[in-house]
Amino acid sequence: MDSIVVRGGAELHGRIPIAGAKNACLALMPAGLLTDDMLTLTNAPRLSDISTMAALLRSLGVAVETRDDDQTLDISATSLTSTCAEYEIVRRMRASILVLGPLLARAGHAEVSLPGGCAIGARPVDLHQYAMEQLGAELELRDGYLHARAPGGLTGGVIEFPMVSVGATENALMAATLASGTSVLRNVAREPEIVDLARCLRAMGARIEGEGTDEITVEGVERLGGATHSVVPDRIELGTYLIAPGITGGSVECVGGRRELVAAFADKLEEAGLSIEDTADGLRSSRANGRLRAVDVVTAPFPGFPTDLQAQMMALMCTADGVSVLEERIFENRFMHAPELMRMGARIDVQGGTATVTGVARLKGAPVMATDLRASVSLILAALGAEGETTVARVYHLDRGYERVEEKLRACGAWIERVRAT
Ligand code: UD1
Repeated sequence: MDSIVVRGGAELHGRIPIAGAKNACLALMPAGLLTDDMLTLTNAPRLSDISTMAALLRSLGVAVETRDDDQTLDISATSLTSTCAEYEIVRRMRASILVLGPLLARAGHAEVSLPGGCAIGARPVDLHQYAMEQLGAELELRDGYLHARAPGGLTGGVIEFPMVSVGATENALMAATLASGTSVLRNVAREPEIVDLARCLRAMGARIEGEGTDEITVEGVERLGGATHSVVPDRIELGTYLIAPGITGGSVECVGGRRELVAAFADKLEEAGLSIEDTADGLRSSRANGRLRAVDVVTAPFPGFPTDLQAQMMALMCTADGVSVLEERIFENRFMHAPELMRMGARIDVQGGTATVTGVARLKGAPVMATDLRASVSLILAALGAEGETTVARVYHLDRGYERVEEKLRACGAWIERVRAT
């Protein structure tokens, strides 16, 4: 398995291009199942999770072609050869559940393996199931698979989510586009990825209103057609690189970044003492002199502070002045980076869903282990500011969600290298 070696201490100065959002693309690709015409996605990120989704779609008989620029995907579901999302793929990536709604809407039935546990918590799929039932589907769990059927087609309905779920909102939204009649989705997720999906579906001919608020109305149509859609910039990659100069000093312009994608997060960085400014091409983050101040963070659905930036924020707080309290409210087990950061000299006390970080003057390089996607990048960030050398092992997690991370950081002056496993 590859590892990444970082020698800390270099200030970062430069520009980093922000890729298309992984999480948006993972929902947009299954939307291609809703039509027999071609769906073209531009600005797609080059990540292993995207390849996994492509593999899943291909296993259903969908043609997925990547153009020469490596960022354009042509998805063509002219006919389906299978409606079964196999365990072998689903276990690698939970977002595979996002084929459930489109398959049901298109084919009238679907079989999707349950994803099983993952490192950051149990992550059940009951809300996805509930949403499909409200649209008239019957679901049954058998042999580790969700078997869903809607023989007469899906029918519009009212879906009142008891808690906010990004994925269940996406599944419900996609399924409702082809259901007969009107569907009202309440207490839905408001993430930019939902807005992006709704825009793409509308370009395909869907009738949707209210995306970006907590209630979405969908009027079902008979069929959807093809479209070309550009994937929204990745707000988590953006947030990650906005943090970097906070740890190292210096200034980084995130090209393609937009403040509204990370507003609550950018406010926190400013409270900590970073300067975040709009530029003609994106968003610039700078730290001039002195130590940052400790700030408290509570993760919440959008527009709150994203759980996917909590680990990176913790890395920043490790060397801030004072005590910072980070509360994780979305996933129950999302502090696995804490013990790794402690190996680098961080002072962190984890009690349930709360981590208390007491800032130290400087972290020290150490061998550490990446445990999940966002944890792995938080260790790289910490290493950039640490004294000496850090080796981050098991970085395959990183490749799921960050494209060309070494290249992007190196272009800003970081000393970072990938050691390929032989
Ligand atoms: C998506 C993102 C992930 C991000 C998360 C929260 C993708 C591919 N992934 O994941 O990066 O961390 O949103 O912003 O977009 N839940 C249930 N039952 C369900 C579904 C979810 O109880 O059926 C719970 C989850 O366990 C979690 C909470 O709801 O505690 C939110 O999860 P959800 O918004 O669904 O996350 P994902 O869509 O899986």
